[in-house]
Amino acid sequence: MNLNVYKADTDQYEHFGELKPCSGEDGSLSLYSNYFNEGFHSRIGALTEAKEKFINPALLTKIKEKSEFNVLDLCFGLGYNSACLLEELKSSRIKINWWGLEQDRRPIRLALDSKSYKENWTRDVLDVLNAISVKGTWKNAYSKGMMLWGDAREQINFIPTKIRFDLIMHDAFSPNHCPQLWSEEFLHLISNRLSNGGVYVTYCRAAAVRRSLQRAGLDLLSIKPYQTRKQSWSDGTMAMKTTNLNNLFIKGTKLQPLTLMEQEHLNTAAGVPYRDLTGKDTKEVIHQRRRQEQQLSELESTSAWHKRWTKVQ
Ligand SMILES: C[S@@+](CC[C@H](N)C(=O)[O-])C[C@H]1O[C@@H](n2cnc3c(N)ncnc32)[C@H](O)[C@@H]1O
Repeated sequence: MNLNVYKADTDQYEHFGELKPCSGEDGSLSLYSNYFNEGFHSRIGALTEAKEKFINPALLTKIKEKSEFNVLDLCFGLGYNSACLLEELKSSRIKINWWGLEQDRRPIRLALDSKSYKENWTRDVLDVLNAISVKGTWKNAYSKGMMLWGDAREQINFIPTKIRFDLIMHDAFSPNHCPQLWSEEFLHLISNRLSNGGVYVTYCRAAAVRRSLQRAGLDLLSIKPYQTRKQSWSDGTMAMKTTNLNNLFIKGTKLQPLTLMEQEHLNTAAGVPYRDLTGKDTKEVIHQRRRQEQQLSELESTSAWHKRWTKVQ
């Protein structure tokens, strides 16, 4: 693989800047986006992150009991989350209807140029990844899929409204760098697309995102941290349209109810949502609007919350 900075191969993608290959602690291929000013994965590495933060909390044992299921990969990137999911479900008889949303075709193309990336997957899953990259669709004996290339805020409207997802994997860049995909409006839109009993999962633990999901009528669980570092109080959020999350079979998963510290976090200024009133607002407009709302709010400051809990620990 060419380890130099990967340049846009068409004018269309130059807008999204350069993508630079990198890797985390597990050595798997990842990318750094200079347009979003952020890496695609955290330092634990792309493959570990997909398994720990998306596949483990997705309650697949429950999903495997079904004969058919609908899944949405929101921000497909190099495809780790979907590839891990397909590998995991390969031996089950479940029929998978897959939908993907992604605005940049380069990450998957770049990944498929890498020998080490391809070695992660079996032939069947590699065939699917190739088909997504080249045609955007595939169909085989146990699964079929459709990728919608473009801004997820627009493209989601092309997914037939009758489709309800049993699993949504939301892997956008962080709210600070890409608030467009974490707005109250967008989160409500995707929450409405969840089936009853469907699972929404993200690495994101931001208070604003969690509050928006709650206001969309979802109940939340926290993903326990993979590594116990000082700042690692949660590795993300799992949400469902149900009122009895506590009765869920979460043994063997990394899910747990929100701790008191996490619950209080939601009531600080950090819980003020990102708002995208037109569905086309820029990052700057969304941040500016949120700062104004935070200034007017009487919520506890997030630094006071942080100090309080640092003293306790
Ligand atoms: C953190 S990366 C996703 C990592 C990915 N799940 C993987 O396994 O490699 C975020 C992805 O969101 C995509 N993205 C950013 N803004 C988007 C938008 N408005 N609509 C659709 N995709 C977007 C980026 O191109 C990038 O591939």
